[in-house]
Amino acid sequence: MSPSLRSDSPEMSHPPKPSSTSTSRTCLQRRSKRFWMILAAVLVALALGLAVGLGVGLTKKGSGNTSPSEPTSTPPPSNNTNNGTLWTPSAGTTWQIVLQGALASNDPSLNVTVMDIDLFDNDASTITALHSQNRKVICYFSAGSYENWRSDSGQFKKSDYGKALQGWDGEYWLNTSSANVRQIMRARLALAASKKCDGVDPDNLDAYNNENGLDMTAADAEDYVAFLSREAHSLNLSIGLKNAGEIVNATVDMMEWVVNEQCVEYKECALYQPFIAAGKPVFHIEYPSSAPSVSTSQKTAICGDASTQGFSTIIKGMDLKSWYQLC
Ligand SMILES: *[C@@H]1O[C@H](CO)[C@@H](O)[C@H](O)[C@H]1NC(C)=O
Ligand SMILES: *[C@@H]1O[C@H](CO)[C@@H](O)[C@H](O)[C@H]1NC(C)=O
Ligand SMILES: *[C@@H]1O[C@H](CO)[C@@H](O)[C@H](O)[C@H]1NC(C)=O
Ligand SMILES: *[C@@H]1O[C@H](CO)[C@@H](O)[C@H](O)[C@H]1NC(C)=O
Ligand SMILES: *[C@@H]1O[C@H](CO)[C@@H](O)[C@H](O)[C@H]1NC(C)=O
Ligand SMILES: *[C@@H]1O[C@H](CO)[C@@H](O)[C@H](O)[C@H]1NC(C)=O
Repeated sequence: MSPSLRSDSPEMSHPPKPSSTSTSRTCLQRRSKRFWMILAAVLVALALGLAVGLGVGLTKKGSGNTSPSEPTSTPPPSNNTNNGTLWTPSAGTTWQIVLQGALASNDPSLNVTVMDIDLFDNDASTITALHSQNRKVICYFSAGSYENWRSDSGQFKKSDYGKALQGWDGEYWLNTSSANVRQIMRARLALAASKKCDGVDPDNLDAYNNENGLDMTAADAEDYVAFLSREAHSLNLSIGLKNAGEIVNATVDMMEWVVNEQCVEYKECALYQPFIAAGKPVFHIEYPSSAPSVSTSQKTAICGDASTQGFSTIIKGMDLKSWYQLC
């Protein structure tokens, strides 16, 4: 038996169809004279508008010395490449993340709207099964580290990576400015799109906070996030920031959510509040060292932390198997 699902998420509600617009013939005939007059006026207005528009366009092209005060028809450049067709979850959406171990579709711990799962370790049929249960799927991959066990790891050059990630065997910080690295990430995004992931969770964006051995800075991270956002959106994939609280303000517009680990433990949850202010989820995990045995007082301290107001908080073990507690 599959767990019951939340039905209150916006992506599942459909606006009512407009009521039938059939109009009686008499009504149409009575209105016809006025209708034609209005139509004629509209056409004249359109023609005038077109003429003025063309005139301005020709003047601009011809003169070549446009005054700077003249209003321009090109919109200001923006890093927000969400053109309106993307999946955009609301702040407070429930979620769960499972990066190790099998997903059992009848596991009650999966009773959430959004599932964050490994891009490489899950095939398209798992994602299709989650969709059939009305869930949205975020596919996790590391965007900022080289992992020596991945199927595409042979494509990285030795010069693409620097120091090892402390505590994570076989993982090294990447030079996220490298064209080769970006090409590999484009392919990973294409893989996510081909598996029908709704969005992606690109991990390890905060090399600048770590001994990365490549002099990667916060500005490098902002540029990389802008790149990932453009590429994901062009594939109709939503995308979230991962940790990297220092670049939240610079990137909140181009991201559909943020995934944060341990902001309560490190007392930095306030950095992520701009996402809540923008109506976007903060998918938040705390890893109490005692997990999976978490005392009531530990749970209360995490779930009641005022700086997490509006967050989608879960408590998990660092192994990111399916065990979790929802706040
Ligand atoms: C699933 O979640 C909903 C809403 O959060 C809850 O009402 C329901 O009891 C849960 N079902 C299971 C099987 O845990
Ligand atoms: C893009 O994704 C949205 C949300 O998942 C979906 O409704 C829409 O049909 C997709 N558009 C295209 C062009 O695939
Ligand atoms: C990172 O890659 C960029 C772009 O290829 C390059 O200019 C830079 O020197 C590289 N940094 C290191 C430390 O190798
Ligand atoms: C887009 O992002 C890049 C990299 O962070 C930044 O340099 C640029 O100023 C941003 N452009 C806009 C319009 O926000
Ligand atoms: C919006 O993005 C989708 C998915 O990439 C694309 O199919 C569609 O043509 C885009 N629409 C506009 C107006 O750019
Ligand atoms: C982000 O913007 C908020 C609101 O303007 C500000 O309070 C906060 O200090 C900024 N965060 C950083 C890291 O600069």
